[in-house]
Amino acid sequence: MSHQNALCRPAPPTSLSPSYRESRHENGRLTAVDVLVVDHPLAQSRLTAMRDARTDSAAFRAALHELTTMLVYEASRPLAVEHHPVQTPVAPTQGTRLANPPLLVPVLRAGLGMADAALALLPESSMGFVGLARDEHTFEPRAYMESLPVDLAGRPVFVLDPMLATGGSLEHCCRLLADRGCTDIIVLCVLAAPAGIERLERSGLPLRLVTASIDEGLNDKAFIVPGLGDAGDRQFGGMPRF
Ligand code: PRP
Repeated sequence: MSHQNALCRPAPPTSLSPSYRESRHENGRLTAVDVLVVDHPLAQSRLTAMRDARTDSAAFRAALHELTTMLVYEASRPLAVEHHPVQTPVAPTQGTRLANPPLLVPVLRAGLGMADAALALLPESSMGFVGLARDEHTFEPRAYMESLPVDLAGRPVFVLDPMLATGGSLEHCCRLLADRGCTDIIVLCVLAAPAGIERLERSGLPLRLVTASIDEGLNDKAFIVPGLGDAGDRQFGGMPRF
């Protein structure tokens, strides 16, 4: 029986590995946001579960956990490695490990749902925390918690937040990291709005973005469209505001 029917169509050809949009450098420093969209079918199926308004909190958290594993996997691809000798049951060979595991920084609340999956894939990493709540009228972030190492020079950081909407929250978080000397920030989010990407680009901060989708835009309450609603409320409960 042929598998080449409408319900079982082969995926269109793609490159063997995803890559960041070509970097733009000025004096050796990143001047724009490099974006990697993880369009793997398994990532997109978890994203679809998260978008579906019928998905309950438990299933939403499970899909976010699994999607985060895939985002971290792709975000880790360019990390520096070091090699060391290892003895298999048969022969000596060279082993590989991360040379400099990234600091993980979930942005509370919604980023908490990405923390476990990231730490499971990067067990050598340590974790910092930033707590931000977006004002419902101004859409600007209000900081209520900050627990970060004092010096981040020479250390890559993975920022975990499901949503990049206006970009105010992630710009605030990334400034905290840059103020501590960090020059290698990778933001992992489920969804990004073009306005948020543009705000991060204007910030001039040294960051890259890994996301499962760049959505159409924002509504008049600055929620991502089509989006998935409020990632914090859908994980932990709260009043729908979109
Ligand atoms: C959401 C989301 C981001 C932010 C995105 O958090 O998790 O942190 O909004 O919006 P922005 O790009 O316009 O700043 P929210 O403020 O709702 O807090 P929560 O995580 O506690 O739900």
